[in-house]
Amino acid sequence: MSTATTHGGPQLPQERRLVTEIPGPRSRELFARKQSAVPPGIGTTLPVFVTHAGGGVIVDVDGNSLIDFGSGIAVTNVGNAAPRVVERVQKQVADFTHTCFMVAPYESYVTVCEKLNALTPGDHEKRTFLVNSGAEAVENAVKVARHATGRQAVVVFDHGYHGRTLLTMTLTAKSMPYKHGFGPFAPEVYRVPLAYPFRWPTGPDNCAEEAAAQAIDMISKQIGAENVAAVLIEPIAGEGGFIEPARGFLPKIVEFCRANGIVFIADEVQTGFARTGHMFACEDEGIVPDIITTAKGIAGGLPLAAVTGRADLLDHVHSGGLGGTYGGNPLACEAALGVLETIEQDKLVERARHIGETMLPRLRAIQEHNPIVGDVRGRGAMIAVELVVPGTKEPYPAAEIARRCHEQGLLVLTAGTYGNVLRFLPPLVIPDHLLEEGLTILEKALNVDQNV
Ligand SMILES: Cc1ncc(COP(=O)(O)O)c(C=O)c1O
Repeated sequence: MSTATTHGGPQLPQERRLVTEIPGPRSRELFARKQSAVPPGIGTTLPVFVTHAGGGVIVDVDGNSLIDFGSGIAVTNVGNAAPRVVERVQKQVADFTHTCFMVAPYESYVTVCEKLNALTPGDHEKRTFLVNSGAEAVENAVKVARHATGRQAVVVFDHGYHGRTLLTMTLTAKSMPYKHGFGPFAPEVYRVPLAYPFRWPTGPDNCAEEAAAQAIDMISKQIGAENVAAVLIEPIAGEGGFIEPARGFLPKIVEFCRANGIVFIADEVQTGFARTGHMFACEDEGIVPDIITTAKGIAGGLPLAAVTGRADLLDHVHSGGLGGTYGGNPLACEAALGVLETIEQDKLVERARHIGETMLPRLRAIQEHNPIVGDVRGRGAMIAVELVVPGTKEPYPAAEIARRCHEQGLLVLTAGTYGNVLRFLPPLVIPDHLLEEGLTILEKALNVDQNV
């Protein structure tokens, strides 16, 4: 089948097919144009230019079909060009494209908000409003928390990532590439330790308790709990390296927030929408956030994000204090409704668990005979390996292994404060045979000695 006549979506042939080297000649031509037209600040993980995508594959301009272990960074959980999303968006684009919800509203925005109020953890009364990106959702969650509490300080964690705007890059932990040269940063942001089991100095067993005690002590002594508007955390740190905080850490932080009138904000921008084998990652430890921010997987790639939270907090802000021209665009809302239907009807929460159950044992088997694999971790279809120099915990660069995977037609992403984490975020609709084939490519790519 010629790629020129093939649509994206699950009907694309679900195969890895390399017809040129990666990147191929046509992609290289386009990449040269990109370098002349686009600044280098906009990086490129894998310089193949895409024509179609769907199921578990991405097809490029040279006719190569690559296995997708990235989902556009945890966005196309339901797959690219998912049929229910396509159908709804096509109808909407022909009906109307924009009125601005704050000017003349439409039903789909309200339906998305109702559904998020019902689906997010906790059965208390909630409100939701819609914005355009994860960073915008986080900024708005902080605005709401400050307004409702009358306090200013915001507490974030080591290894956290929350976006690239002034406030959210301030909230982000890592300097290079996110903050370097972009100061001065926003005031009243404070950082405390995260319970990172693999790298906790006294070992994983004491990690939850010690990290929570340190965080709470720093908040109490250095900021003063009564000055803190919000504690903001990713239930699994995404860009920081898929760090699952040691069990027990999150409940202790929530308990401290509740006791001190601090708004607990869970940033589920990367972890949300079935990715971790729950609809939201907070569910794993029964955490009920006061506010939850979502984006990425919410609308299959159309720009949409949401702030959902306790009605008393969100209702505190005066009319006109929240919003934006495009927030909750009708195309994006229809896409979100298509995504939510797909997750439910195609049982993608269960599918994410199946992906984890397939990947984790194979990765652990690799770890047993390959000493550069220091740690294997993850939940559902949010899985990572942390690479180390054999026999140490010194970081081993993940980019080198990612490049080997890319050459073989497997798209993987890197992450981690130390740049030594390979992360896997396959679309939840990826067929099993591509998952297995991808793992085989990865196993070979990790075999550094044999492949050098
Ligand atoms: C946890 C988390 N928060 C916020 C963001 C920012 O989202 P966006 O890139 O849509 O602004 C990201 C993006 O990777 C993220 O992973």
